[in-house]
Amino acid sequence: MLLQEIDQKVRTAITRWAMSPAEAELLMRYAAEGDHLEIGTLWGGSAIGVAMAKRSGEVYCIDPFPEMPQRELPTLAGVEASIKKLGITTIHLYQQAHPPMPSALEDHRFDTALIDGEHTYDACLANWLDIKGRVDRYILFHDIDFEDRVKPVWEIAISDPQWEYVEVAGDMGVVARR
Ligand SMILES: C[S@@+](CC[C@H](N)C(=O)[O-])C[C@H]1O[C@@H](n2cnc3c(N)ncnc32)[C@H](O)[C@@H]1O
Repeated sequence: MLLQEIDQKVRTAITRWAMSPAEAELLMRYAAEGDHLEIGTLWGGSAIGVAMAKRSGEVYCIDPFPEMPQRELPTLAGVEASIKKLGITTIHLYQQAHPPMPSALEDHRFDTALIDGEHTYDACLANWLDIKGRVDRYILFHDIDFEDRVKPVWEIAISDPQWEYVEVAGDMGVVARR
C-alpha cells in the first residue's frame, strides 16, 4: 500500500491523527524497518500508520493515556479497540509516562523512535537523553517549531557528536546515528 493510502486509511479509522500528511509520510518512510519506539501515542494515528507501513519489526508505544473524558482524550481501551478493528497485531502499548523506560523494554534495542510526548523542554530533553543510547538508526522529533520547548532539544540532537541532521518535513525532524 502507498504511504498516502495508509495515511488516508488511518485518518478515516481514528478520531484524530495529530500530524500533517507530509509529517506522517516522513515518519512512515524512516520507521519502515525494524523495531520502533513511540513516546506519545494519543489516538494511535502515528503508531498505526507506522505499523501499516512496516516491512519488518514491531511498534512499542509509551503513553500514560490519562482518563480525561471531559477533554475527550482517548483511553487505553479506545486505542486498543482501534488497533484491533484494523487487524493490527504488531503494536504494543505501555501505559505510563516516559521516562523511565517500561521495565519490559529496559534491555530492548530499537531501530527507530518518535519523540511526541509531553511538549515541554524538560520532558522532551528527558525523552531524548533516555532513548538516544537505545536507538540504532533514526530518531524523529515532532513539533520542532515549538520555540523554547521542543526546538532547543532538536538543536541539541542535531549538535550531538553521535547523531546528525537528516531531513525536516513540516514540523517533523529526523536525526540519524553516525
Ligand atoms: C501530541 S500527542 C501524540 C500524538 C501522536 N503521536 C499522533 O501522531 O497522533 C502527545 C501524547 O503524549 C502523551 N504524553 C504526555 N506525557 C508523556 C510522557 N511523559 N511519556 C509518554 N507520553 C506522554 C499524551 O498523553 C498524549 O497522548
